[in-house]
Amino acid sequence: MSQRQTKLTQNPLEKIWIPSMSTTVPQFTNSPTMIVMVGLPARGKTYISKKLTRYLNWIGVPTKVFNVGQYRRDATQSYKSYEFFRPDNQEAMKIRKACAIAALKDVCAYFMQEQGQVAVFDATNTTIERREVILSFLCVYLAVCASLSQVKLSSPDYAGCDKEDAVADFLKRIECYKVTYISLNDEKDRSLSYIKIFNVGSRYLVNRVQDHIQSRIVYYLMNIHVAPRFIYLTRHGESELNLVGRIGGDSGLSPRGNKFASALGGYIRSQCIRDLKVWTSHMKRTIQTAEGLGVPYEQWKALNEIDAGVCEEMTYEEIQDHYPEEFALRDQNKYRYRYPKGESYEDLVQRLEPVIMELERQENVLVVCHQAVMRCLLAYFLDKSAAELPYLKCPLHTVLKLTPVAYGCKVESIFLNIEAVNTHRDKPVNVDVDREPEEALLTVPDHI
Ligand code: F6P
Repeated sequence: MSQRQTKLTQNPLEKIWIPSMSTTVPQFTNSPTMIVMVGLPARGKTYISKKLTRYLNWIGVPTKVFNVGQYRRDATQSYKSYEFFRPDNQEAMKIRKACAIAALKDVCAYFMQEQGQVAVFDATNTTIERREVILSFLCVYLAVCASLSQVKLSSPDYAGCDKEDAVADFLKRIECYKVTYISLNDEKDRSLSYIKIFNVGSRYLVNRVQDHIQSRIVYYLMNIHVAPRFIYLTRHGESELNLVGRIGGDSGLSPRGNKFASALGGYIRSQCIRDLKVWTSHMKRTIQTAEGLGVPYEQWKALNEIDAGVCEEMTYEEIQDHYPEEFALRDQNKYRYRYPKGESYEDLVQRLEPVIMELERQENVLVVCHQAVMRCLLAYFLDKSAAELPYLKCPLHTVLKLTPVAYGCKVESIFLNIEAVNTHRDKPVNVDVDREPEEALLTVPDHI
């Protein structure tokens, strides 16, 4: 990054360079993007920073949050009171400025040394100033509504503190910020790229969105909500092909798979879920499973199982036999490996992106899907890396109930007590192309 890009104003706590729309600096399509979260405390900046970062990483855009509050917590022994945030507290102001500088330096290092693509800069006291930089900037401004949620009150700043004292202190802290706080101005700031989100998404104002990544971010931010809800993920009941250890295909349910379909109906009814939406793939085994629920369901082609191409309907043993090199290559990088004439997990994530977007828009949903698809969806909700994703455990006849909480998701695993074959194959120790077949097949699960 050039000197020009990283140069800071005198008071980085309050000013960040931002590109002028009228400059001759070219807009690089692959230039890194800095998302600056602005707004008074308790507007949901940290929540959105974390959620957006999880989404961007999941779709394959390397993204990291830089939370200046965390730098401040690391730099100070312990938080004492709102006095720290008083604008006339010179000592504290020095610390806060140093923290902002440290965070900005780390942003530069992230772009330059770690190949980061998006930095989400989460700092309450940030104003922005137009300058020529080769960075794409998007400002996310959370306006109006404050919520003193559990999240804020369970902040490390208030650990062990009485709840009422914490609320009182936090309200005073907001007042401190208000003294120096200047809102984004729709007239004066009209050359900036920003999205203003009013009252947790009741209204949006989108201004000068610049490029592909910014429009994806804006689209995502306009689709998420914070209403409490549950997401249930399950695979179809055991299929005839599962029984014999064959991957893919479009077989129907085994007798145990049918039992699971009925048990799933019973379980879902016992949950008394308001306005539950049920989604399946276009494959027989998920449709037969949803039929057991006795409620309407919607079929998504995007939820179909990973396409194993030339390996469809083979057992893992047959794949090793016919395509030993392919089998080893998949073990070497299961996320990126694409079956000949088929798909990779990476392809699957791209295919599932509209499903995730719609899941974000909806409230209670049950998704009846497949092993690889369920791993991709779960990785999104649990913020799992590309390396972990293809090995997430999603056994048959087990429902995962996801409840969004604070900054993440709570997961409950409910086994519905109907036996099923194991279809999970762990990564073997030896992934060399010239390994012995026995080594390649060491982790293949049992089947008929
Ligand atoms: O074995 C069941 C199955 O859903 C197959 O249809 C699919 O190819 C496979 O799981 C995906 O799991 P893995 O990526 O571990 O082979």
